[in-house]
Amino acid sequence: MSRLNRTDRPYDIVLFGATGFVGTLTAEYLAAHAPEGLRWAIAGRSEEKLHRLREGLPGGSEVGVLRADVSDPASLRELAEHARVVATTVGPYVTHGEELVAACADSGADYLDLTGEPEFVDLMYVHHDARARETGARLVHACGFDSVPHDLGAYFTVRQLPEGVPLRVDGFVTADATFSGGTFASALNQFARGRQLLAAARDRGRHEPRLVGRRVCAPTGAPRFAPEVGAWALPLPTIDAQIVRRSAQALERYGPDFRYREYAAVRHLPVAVGGVAAVGALIAAAQLPPARRWLSDRLKPGEGPGPEKRAKSWFKVRFVGEGGGRRVYTEVAGGDPGYDETAKIFAEAALCLAFDDLPPTAGQVTTAVAMGDALTERLRRAGITFRVAGSR
Ligand SMILES: NC(=O)c1ccc[n+]([C@@H]2O[C@H](COP(=O)([O-])OP(=O)(O)OC[C@H]3O[C@@H](n4cnc5c(N)ncnc54)[C@H](OP(=O)(O)O)[C@@H]3O)[C@@H](O)[C@H]2O)c1
Repeated sequence: MSRLNRTDRPYDIVLFGATGFVGTLTAEYLAAHAPEGLRWAIAGRSEEKLHRLREGLPGGSEVGVLRADVSDPASLRELAEHARVVATTVGPYVTHGEELVAACADSGADYLDLTGEPEFVDLMYVHHDARARETGARLVHACGFDSVPHDLGAYFTVRQLPEGVPLRVDGFVTADATFSGGTFASALNQFARGRQLLAAARDRGRHEPRLVGRRVCAPTGAPRFAPEVGAWALPLPTIDAQIVRRSAQALERYGPDFRYREYAAVRHLPVAVGGVAAVGALIAAAQLPPARRWLSDRLKPGEGPGPEKRAKSWFKVRFVGEGGGRRVYTEVAGGDPGYDETAKIFAEAALCLAFDDLPPTAGQVTTAVAMGDALTERLRRAGITFRVAGSR
C-alpha cells in the first residue's frame, strides 16, 4: 500500500484517549491551531465524555467522534482504517497499547504515542516493524516531552558540528513541573517490570540488524559535577537516550562514532542526593504490589496539575556537543513540559506527519528520523526555543 491511497480516509488525524488529561489538552490545542479544512476526530471509550469534550471545543461541530476501546480490537481496526494519522494517549502502553499499533501497521495508518516505556517500544519493534514497513505506516513512539526535546535537541546539536568525524553529545535536563495520574501510573508500571524490560531489549537485539561501519552508543553516565553547565549531573532513568541512539543509528549525519549521554542537572548537592533517594525509593516500592497500589491511589487517572501550576512550570535541556575540534552549546526550552508542551508537541507531530513534506520512511522510526527539520520548525513557530548558546 502506498501512502497516497490513504488520502480518501475520512480523517486526517484521529486522537484516541482524547478524554484523558493530556488527551483533552491535545484536543484543545488541535481545535485552536488546526489548519483550515483539517478533518479530525476525537476517539475514546465513553461516547458521553467525548460529546461533552466536543461541545467545549472551538469549532467542535466539525470534529468527528469515534468510540473505541482497547478491549475491543475490532473497534481499534475500524479507528485505524478511518485515519491517515492516529495519535494515542491511552497508557500504560505496555498494558493498553499493542492492538492499536498492530491495527495501524496493518492498515498503513501513521501512529504516534506518548510512551516513555522502553519495554513497549522494543516489543512493538519486534512484533510490528516489519508489517509497518510493508504497508508504509510510520510508527513513532515517545512524541511528547519524552523524548522530542531530547531527540530533536541532539539532532539540532549534531547539525552544528562538523560532518564525518566522531561526535560526543551530553544532554542536561532541568525542569520545574509536576506530573499527572496517567504519567505516575505508567512510571510505576514500568518500574515494576524490570525483568520484562530487559527481556524485551534482548529480544529486540536479536531481531535488529547490526550497524555496519559506524559506532553509536548511549551509555548511562556516572553521577558527577559537570563544570560545563555548573551543576551536578545525575543519570536519568528515561527512554530519551535510547531514542537518541536510534536516531543516530539511522542517520549518517551523526558521524562514524557517536555517543550520547543524558543527565538531570541539579545545582545543589543536597537536592541531587534527595532526588536520587526519592527515585530509588519509588523503584523499590513499585516492586511490592500493596505499596504500588497505595502509591497509585495518591494520584488518580485523569488528574493532573491545574492551569496555574502549569503556567509556572518550565523546562530547559542544555546540550554540549563536541567533535572535529569544535565544541558547541545548544538549548531547547519551553513551558510546562509534561502537559502543555507535551500536548503542543504531540499535536504538531500529528500535523507534521499528516501534512509536511518529509523524508520517505516507514516502520518504527524516531521523531528525528521521520520529521527532524519539519517538526523542529513547527515547534519553533509554536514557541519552543531551539538555539545555539555558544561555541568554540
Ligand atoms: N511522553 C511524555 O512526555 C508524556 C507526557 C504526559 C503523559 N504521558 C503519558 O500519556 C499517557 C496518558 O497520560 P494522562 O495523564 O493523560 O492519563 P489519563 O488522564 O489517565 O488518560 C488516559 C486515557 O486513556 C483512556 N483509556 C483508559 N483505558 C481505556 C480503554 N480500555 N479503552 C479506551 N481508552 C482507555 C482514558 O479514557 P477515559 O477518559 O474514558 O477514562 C483516558 O482518555 C500516560 O501513559 C502517560 O505516561 C507521556
